[in-house]
Amino acid sequence: MSKTVIIYKTKYNSTKKYAGWLAIRIDADLYELSDIRSSDLKNYDTIIFGGAIENGYIRGIEFIKDNIEKIKDKKVIVFYVGLGFYSLNEIISLNFLPTYKYKSIKFFELMGDFDYKKLSLIDKVRVMYGSGKIASNLVNYKSNIQNTKKDNLNDILEFLN
Ligand SMILES: Cc1cc2nc3c(=O)[nH]c(=O)nc-3n(C[C@H](O)[C@H](O)[C@H](O)COP(=O)(O)O)c2cc1C
Repeated sequence: MSKTVIIYKTKYNSTKKYAGWLAIRIDADLYELSDIRSSDLKNYDTIIFGGAIENGYIRGIEFIKDNIEKIKDKKVIVFYVGLGFYSLNEIISLNFLPTYKYKSIKFFELMGDFDYKKLSLIDKVRVMYGSGKIASNLVNYKSNIQNTKKDNLNDILEFLN
């Protein structure tokens, strides 16, 4: 039987919600990144990694990159959770160079939540003084944005079927 694992790295829980919903829906094993080792990956045919976007970078994505040789013949999906500031091309050039190494990965963007008031002090500072698009966009987001909903997983579910 084909086996799937979902590995996630979150800070404010949107990514965890998506990973959990998906795991129940497709009956996959679910791990927070720090609870899984590279050697566990051999037990799976499909690897799904979910990470929150921060200043253009996908949290925890090194795990997939460091293991890319090991998983190159498996189905690999990366979903990244943010507020839609970056195109896929930008995400790829910020996170996946050289691109040929990561050609087999299928990417999905999922919209996450953002509540300025609940950010840690350091994240408030990062948002205020962040780089590139963050400086111009996120600074204006002072309200509580709630984007996380199960229906956003439909594209991934369709791809998996
Ligand atoms: C410091 C910081 C930097 C962020 N940078 C980005 C970004 O570059 N692009 C984006 O779309 N969203 C950005 N966001 C928004 C988060 O990706 C969004 O809130 C997401 O839901 C967080 O996922 P999590 O709840 O799993 O931690 C940033 C948020 C914080 C706090």
